[in-house]
Amino acid sequence: MRRPTVPSKLVRLICAFSALGGLTLLTGCWLDGPQSTFHVKGPVARAQLDLFMVTVYVTAFIFVAVGAVLAFATLRFRARSAADQHAEPPPQSHGNFLVEISLVSASVLCLVIIAFPTLRNIGYTYDVPAAEQANAYEITATGSQWWFKFEYPREQIEGVGPLVTGNELVIPAGRPVRIALRTLDVIHSFWVPKLAGKVDMIPNRPNHLWLQADEPGYYYGQCAEFCGDSHAIMRFRVIALSAPEFAAWLANQERPARVVAPDAAAAAPRPHAVFASYRTTAGGALAGSPEFDANPFAAWKEKQVPDPAHENRQLITEGRRLFQEKTCIACHTIRGHEGVGVTGPDLTHVGARTTIAAGSLENTPRRMHAWIADPNHFKPGNKMYNGGYTDPTTGQRLIHLNDAEIDALVAYLQSLK
Ligand code: CUA
Repeated sequence: MRRPTVPSKLVRLICAFSALGGLTLLTGCWLDGPQSTFHVKGPVARAQLDLFMVTVYVTAFIFVAVGAVLAFATLRFRARSAADQHAEPPPQSHGNFLVEISLVSASVLCLVIIAFPTLRNIGYTYDVPAAEQANAYEITATGSQWWFKFEYPREQIEGVGPLVTGNELVIPAGRPVRIALRTLDVIHSFWVPKLAGKVDMIPNRPNHLWLQADEPGYYYGQCAEFCGDSHAIMRFRVIALSAPEFAAWLANQERPARVVAPDAAAAAPRPHAVFASYRTTAGGALAGSPEFDANPFAAWKEKQVPDPAHENRQLITEGRRLFQEKTCIACHTIRGHEGVGVTGPDLTHVGARTTIAAGSLENTPRRMHAWIADPNHFKPGNKMYNGGYTDPTTGQRLIHLNDAEIDALVAYLQSLK
């Protein structure tokens, strides 16, 4: 049997690469995950996708053209016999001026084809277009290890300052939104794949981006710059609402935290049994997001509405007391209630969010219980764990929360709609 010659190996390699490239392009057209940059939902992400596709077409053309010439040369001039394999190489020349100048010109042309839309896009994505400026909504997003704070400078609450939320950015749909980007510690990067991104949040350097959601919806965001232990799960959500829904959401958010009065008559059995079977330290890890994933937008809307019929008023009252007693107040604000801290996310309306732990866990009582019981299990290195629960050097528990106390805290936090 004849050993395959080097040129035929090359041909096989080229065929394999072509097949791989084709497959990648083909699957690319169907990639529709929650963070897909191929199924975009706004003009900025669309401009970025269009530019990406220009680059793909140009480079695909180069790949095919160079591959074809290479394949032709290897097939046409391959060694056809044992004598050919041992023959002297043909006489070498310095090259062909016409071929060289054509190759240089073709390369320049390819770069120019990519440069024009690139330059246009740099201008377009930098800031809201002049004609739209008056209609733009303003947000300030601040990254921290490892969560996002969102401030609404246009919504000033008397005696407090701008409206603040955490990890779920609610915006008006169909309207440009200009987002000022800040960081409290290291470099983070703000990225909502279906809407826009990514732009870095750099210490001491104000940055910004703009985005627009074509229609109301629930979009996934992600920190896209390595920022420490839990970078990979530093996520957030963007919820785009129609104008009336957005106005209603703002009105509710501007209210101080909801008060649930204790009422002996409404005291139901403690819902401890619902949560207590859950133990992360015993090896049970919570999977990604199985409960809301089918329709997270509907889940979000449902979360906005309090459900007094299923609330344990006594437990909520106990939770509010514990929130103070266990020093949660030092890092978290619950506007209108006791908390005043700013180290952690504002929890005034935490019960109305679909996620906790910076978008890494769904906001269900069971998950919130697991999160409070062992935050480091879900977000390694986070400050709630290091600062409040366990001494990092001695491993000694500084604040102990038993299951019943966590249940009360969960009931309280879930009541904050
Ligand atoms: Cu923040 Cu990565």
